[in-house]
Amino acid sequence: MSSSFEIRSECAEDILGIRAVVAASFPTDAEARLVDTLRTAGDLSISLVAVEAGRVIGHIGFSPVTLNATVIGMGLAPVAVEERSRRRGVASRLVQAGVEHCRHLNHRYVVVLGVPAFYAKFGFRPASVWGFRDEYGGGEAFQAIDLAPQEPPSWCGTVRYAPAFSMFS
Ligand SMILES: CC(C)(COP(=O)(O)OP(=O)(O)OC[C@H]1O[C@@H](n2cnc3c(N)ncnc32)[C@H](O)[C@@H]1OP(=O)(O)O)[C@@H](O)C(=O)NCCC(=O)NCCS
Repeated sequence: MSSSFEIRSECAEDILGIRAVVAASFPTDAEARLVDTLRTAGDLSISLVAVEAGRVIGHIGFSPVTLNATVIGMGLAPVAVEERSRRRGVASRLVQAGVEHCRHLNHRYVVVLGVPAFYAKFGFRPASVWGFRDEYGGGEAFQAIDLAPQEPPSWCGTVRYAPAFSMFS
């Protein structure tokens, strides 16, 4: 099916729709609460929605990640697409648009904890390539994309997500 949806930044009117899509996409409403908590804390730095016929059908959030208390980029989480709109490239467009957003904001890295088979096609590689670990023991699922690869990497260690993520510790 051709894309009849648009990707744009969230606005206040989208918040209920985002909550509904995210809550329905995961086993519990924890991820939906995470999005709300990030927003309230001012840490939902990038929040994009996929909208079709005026309805939110997908969402992606990005929040700052730190290494040794220095912000080194953005953490992609969560991404969700309502069940009946899946396999049409909605999440792919959200990921691509979000990563481009990070690039324009001059963030060095985007990190994600997710299935490598899905994220590799966007350029994500195991974060261990840069010497990064995550705080959750994600192993190969912890991936990163380097948005300024011409500069030599200058960090290694444990990447930490925004405080709202402590609900998953
Ligand atoms: C994962 C999710 C966001 C994908 O949304 P989507 O709009 O269907 O994704 P796209 O259409 O852009 O891409 C689908 C492709 O990704 C692949 N894919 C999706 N989830 C995958 C997974 N867990 N493992 C491997 N491949 C996966 C599909 O097989 C499909 O590949 P194909 O096009 O070659 O057949 C959606 O299934 C979802 O909301 N799932 C529940 C929430 C979730 O798990 N979020 C991700 C973790 S934060």
